[in-house]
Amino acid sequence: MSREAEGLPRRYSKLEEALEIKSLRRIISAYINYSDAAEEDVRRYERSFRKLSREHKGLLSHLLQKFQRLRRCIAANSFFIMNMLQAFDPPFDMSQDIHLDGHGGTERLPNGHLCTQASHYTQDCSSYLKQPVLKRPEFSSCGGGCLQTPSKINNEKEISSESSCTLIMNVSTPDCNAKLVDESKDDAKFICKLDSPPRDSTPNGNITSVPNNWMETSLRSSVPLVDVDKVRCIIRNIVRDWAMEGQKERDQCYKPILEELNRLFPVRRKERPPSCLVPGAGLGRLALEISCLGFVSQGNEFSYYMMICSSFILNQTQAANQWTIFPWIHSNCNSLSDDDQCRPVSFPDIQPASAGITEGFSMCGGDFIEVYNDIDQEASWDAVATCFFLDTAHNIVEYIEVISKILKDGGVWINLGPLLYHFADAYGPEEEMSIEISLEDVKKVALQYGFEFEMEKSIETTYTANPRSMMQNHYYTAFWTMKKKPRK
Ligand SMILES: C[S@@+](CC[C@H](N)C(=O)[O-])C[C@H]1O[C@@H](n2cnc3c(N)ncnc32)[C@H](O)[C@@H]1O
Repeated sequence: MSREAEGLPRRYSKLEEALEIKSLRRIISAYINYSDAAEEDVRRYERSFRKLSREHKGLLSHLLQKFQRLRRCIAANSFFIMNMLQAFDPPFDMSQDIHLDGHGGTERLPNGHLCTQASHYTQDCSSYLKQPVLKRPEFSSCGGGCLQTPSKINNEKEISSESSCTLIMNVSTPDCNAKLVDESKDDAKFICKLDSPPRDSTPNGNITSVPNNWMETSLRSSVPLVDVDKVRCIIRNIVRDWAMEGQKERDQCYKPILEELNRLFPVRRKERPPSCLVPGAGLGRLALEISCLGFVSQGNEFSYYMMICSSFILNQTQAANQWTIFPWIHSNCNSLSDDDQCRPVSFPDIQPASAGITEGFSMCGGDFIEVYNDIDQEASWDAVATCFFLDTAHNIVEYIEVISKILKDGGVWINLGPLLYHFADAYGPEEEMSIEISLEDVKKVALQYGFEFEMEKSIETTYTANPRSMMQNHYYTAFWTMKKKPRK
């Protein structure tokens, strides 16, 4: 009998594991080096300032103070990042030596996906694991299982042996939050309060040494700019999902989806709640809101950048507005004032554990197609909600096919987003598949997969926009609800 059939996780090949570790190290490294990269920007501003004539310097002498202010903001952002990393429990032994003879030059992941740098908003291509790996008790002890169909969710199980899913985080219910904040417990050592700086960091957040062994092995002196940018994207996503400042954007993007779910499932019984999957869940707020509405909600996300951050916010938050970051410091462009650029943003605006989630809320790491194109997933969801997700596909037809497959007959697919195909301009060394079709064609494909329109309109919205910037990108997104027609 195979290991999977016996209920044991699939074994990795040495190469798969090495590639996973390499990829994860790169992401950790980008996070760790965040402050160095940001400091380098400030030094660049200073070099430019020094090139000014004496007269011009006199006119702009306040900039010297601004540069120091930027440094304090960077330190505060870094303080949050290091706390977040300390709470992360890597699914592999990250301290091991890895050898990638002949495989070290690419970013190709074990499943054959090529990690590209295409990035229109915050798309990250990061590694994921193909077997269920779950070590942290706090992720599993208080919630449901994962990647079984909701009706099969088993509260006792830490790991679903049936799944091809990776990092599964069942979000703590309020009951288990008490355990999380009890610092006398062993596992509380990862919990960092604002008033207790992480080990090896100074009170202003400057990191004096690298705290964990596995972090040390990830540390690199130079990080590609594209990785640095991904960390900055995550910071902007924190505002979108978890700050008061992001409320307007959430009202534009998430509220219409929540209202649709509310309209289409007016009766949500506690004993048998309807289920909803959120592919490409980002930092998890929409999935959480859907859970609070009375659904068994599961977010799916394949980026470790996102998963590390959402796990920290969802599982480790002790109080609303526990953290303060300075999300807008990385661009000097289109600022109305220095105060605007350097304004603090607190988050999370709510404490997730006390938000009123429905039992069974989980985040599931892995590629949407890999995880859900599985016989166990067929006809198992009452609803699928995609927000700014469809255009992340290499092949959007495959996304639609899988969404149709996993929905029950009569199930609903709610979508909101543009068609800014993420791989459209991915001019990497290897050509990426990218199917870029019009909205009209997307809808035709959906009809072919057994969907019929319930509702359709366009919604104007921003995505991770700085609300006080002089430049605002607006999308006129497609918003629809489609129903999967019962098969005859
Ligand atoms: C543009 S972001 C949208 C995030 C979130 N839905 C929101 O509205 O803020 C797209 C997300 O989908 C994730 N993603 C892209 N391709 C994916 C895939 N194949 N499987 C799972 N997640 C994916 C990205 O990592 C990213 O977090």
